[in-house]
Amino acid sequence: MGLTALLVAAARAIETHRPDSLAQDPYAEHFVRAAAACADWPVRIQQVVEGDGDPLWGRFARYFGLRTRVLDDFVLGSVGAGARQVVLLGAGLDTRAFRLDWASPGCVVFEVDRAGVLEFKHRVLADLAACPKAKRVPVPVDLRSDWVSALTAGGFDEAAPSVWLAEGLLFYLPGPAETYLVDTVDRLSVAGSALAFEAKLEKDLMEYRDSAIYVATRERIGIDLLDLFAKGPRPDSAGGLAAKGWSTSTHTPFDFTRRHGRGPLPEPNDALEGNRWVFAHKRRP
Ligand SMILES: C[S@@+](CC[C@H](N)C(=O)[O-])C[C@H]1O[C@@H](n2cnc3c(N)ncnc32)[C@H](O)[C@@H]1O
Repeated sequence: MGLTALLVAAARAIETHRPDSLAQDPYAEHFVRAAAACADWPVRIQQVVEGDGDPLWGRFARYFGLRTRVLDDFVLGSVGAGARQVVLLGAGLDTRAFRLDWASPGCVVFEVDRAGVLEFKHRVLADLAACPKAKRVPVPVDLRSDWVSALTAGGFDEAAPSVWLAEGLLFYLPGPAETYLVDTVDRLSVAGSALAFEAKLEKDLMEYRDSAIYVATRERIGIDLLDLFAKGPRPDSAGGLAAKGWSTSTHTPFDFTRRHGRGPLPEPNDALEGNRWVFAHKRRP
């Protein structure tokens, strides 16, 4: 079971129970509680000694809460504009199929991740008797292999508009796998489709090895993110999409902190400094 997906789930649990919550995920804490590896992780900010001042469960968790909200809005906006197929690439413990209000009938949510992650998720949600609010199709496959066949076998229709999310995923894929993924999304997307993804701009990630977030994640919960991130140069995926006729906009997370009035702000030696959220729309002719 992917620990990074559990880290995001713990952050969402904390966000859910904040009085000024930006996103609600009532399932998140159940994933954390079901996994032995994170038995002592908090699921409420009140369980964190330093509270909001804690770099991991305060600032980093708030980052994930903000990202969740921004991408919730993106998905629902894209569905409102006509897409009915939602593809979650590296879905992890994302429960959007269960918790978002899919006002439009006929929405299908494809959850693409490794089999072990999807099996764990299924088990926890089945124990809770959770009911998806949209049709949900798990697609157990490794994104470094032929995931298109698996997605198509699951019923994905490349003739219909789609909305794609790569939330917290691309850093883990080697550069060529990211390029293949983005090119493939383009190939499978008709006009009117949309894609949001998260990227990192830093040329040398190791520069931030001693940042408060990376140190806390490594030393307190044993997740060395820099070790997990793929090494080597990153492709310019936003530029690649623009060249293929997509309109793109790139934001820092801090842009949304200011918009929502909550979330992380820049700080010295900041692991989040190079993070960018890219929103792309395939233009109609
Ligand atoms: C940090 S988690 C993010 C999960 C989810 N998108 C979210 O934001 O809650 C990264 C996810 O990407 C998945 N992942 C990483 N590399 C993958 C690969 N090669 N194939 C399929 N999934 C992968 C992991 O299993 C994990 O669930």
